[in-house]
Amino acid sequence: MNINININENIKNSTNVYLLDNNYNISNINTDLCNYLKSKKSFDAKLFSKFSYINNLDSYLLVGLGDVNKISVNDFRKIGFDIAKFLKDNKLKYANINYISIDVNNDSIYLKALIEGVFQSEYKFDTYKTKEKNNSIDLNININLGSSFDFDNNSINKINNLVEGINITRELTNTPAIDMYPEVLANKAKELLEPLGVKVTIFDKNDIENLSMTAFLSVAEGSDKEPKFIKMEYIPVRNGEVLALVGKGLTYDSGGYAIKPPLGMSTMMGDMAGSATVIGTIYAIAKNNIGQNVVGLVAACENMISGKAYKNGDIVKSMKGTTIEVKNTDAEGRVTLADSLYYAATKTNATAIIDLATLTGACVVGLGDYTTGIVTNDDNIYNKLYQSSVEAGEYVWKLPIVDELREQVKSKIADITNSTGKPGGAITAGIFLEEFVEGKSWAHMDIAGPASTESEYGYIPRGATGIPVKTLYNFVKNFNLK
Ligand code: BES
Ligand code: MN
Ligand code: ZN
Repeated sequence: MNINININENIKNSTNVYLLDNNYNISNINTDLCNYLKSKKSFDAKLFSKFSYINNLDSYLLVGLGDVNKISVNDFRKIGFDIAKFLKDNKLKYANINYISIDVNNDSIYLKALIEGVFQSEYKFDTYKTKEKNNSIDLNININLGSSFDFDNNSINKINNLVEGINITRELTNTPAIDMYPEVLANKAKELLEPLGVKVTIFDKNDIENLSMTAFLSVAEGSDKEPKFIKMEYIPVRNGEVLALVGKGLTYDSGGYAIKPPLGMSTMMGDMAGSATVIGTIYAIAKNNIGQNVVGLVAACENMISGKAYKNGDIVKSMKGTTIEVKNTDAEGRVTLADSLYYAATKTNATAIIDLATLTGACVVGLGDYTTGIVTNDDNIYNKLYQSSVEAGEYVWKLPIVDELREQVKSKIADITNSTGKPGGAITAGIFLEEFVEGKSWAHMDIAGPASTESEYGYIPRGATGIPVKTLYNFVKNFNLK
């Protein structure tokens, strides 16, 4: 399926889409129809409400905006999404969307959000459906802008590329572990990113041993699938600053000997959402030629049970040399990230490190299903991530490190422990990670909540959401690292 969007190239014999506020004030729809609808009270123009008329010759769709003083940019994503869904559901291939001005100074922001929403309608995880396939149609959409509206057509492509990146993240994350294991993930990264000029290096088990990533290897030990360490280098600026994006890459998390109950385990193919976020983000950045250096790093493995698996009570050594008491084999993400973060801090030129991880249930308890928790040693990065998330229509919030909590990650018999008890569990996980960033500017993003959803909401599909690809993309696009 394909969506083609043009600006000010009216399509004949197509569905006309009008945006109407609750006073019927803003729209260039004909007044007869307006008056008719008003008199019939058949359309109240509440936000997201719809009224349609479909006929062979002329069909139209009215979309309610409610109170225009209250409408948000994110509402426009949903409006674009709803329009595209309506067209597809009714097999209407051609449409003119008549745009209206919401805020003369910021109209292009609203318009971009609407266009993003249209593209967001493309994704559905139906790869494994043999019957109810997404037999969706191609859409040709023209957007009529009001007069004196300046819009760079090139940005339509950019938005499309960004949504492509988001959809890559979704598909990688949704794919069950039987088909998405470290080798497959690594090959996917190569296949998707190398054509865009990203250098992808895949380290196999031998290479990982030579790097002394023994903490990472201990988590991988119980699985028959070989672990892979994936490095993705996008370096458009010679001698420029480098941002490292480090993704948790558990292609399956059974909990290991601290085994998860079946229901909790059944979604754990998504425990590599952090790494999929890194891959999708770098895809969008490279495809849109963003002039900022980024290195992606992923320690990909499965957390399984076998005679070889690491055990509750083991003490393992990290690449850094720090010994880790594995009190709980289900707190495996931070054990793999210990080595990935240390690699980022010491073996790359990164001046800043951001890690993405479906790390703790505690973060979901604290912030809910929709918000990314951030633990950081640099408020400057936090502020930029926060601004980027607002632009993206995504949510992030900082979790405070207080020094008293540091006691919880200390071990009586090793240097640190991976299991810290319930209180502040998302923060203490972050404190554990901080041990390995060697004082570099760093932010940890716990995406256990927002990375996936049991039911769709807004323009977000069921399953993997692709959050926070947009936040990271904006961060890289808008800010340099100094
Ligand atoms: N992958 C899980 C975290 C998770 C839970 C992600 C639910 C998405 C949804 C992680 O490896 C884990 O098991 N964390 C434990 C840590 C605990 C043992 C310290 C948790 O949150 O219970
Ligand atoms: Mn776990
Ligand atoms: Zn996990």
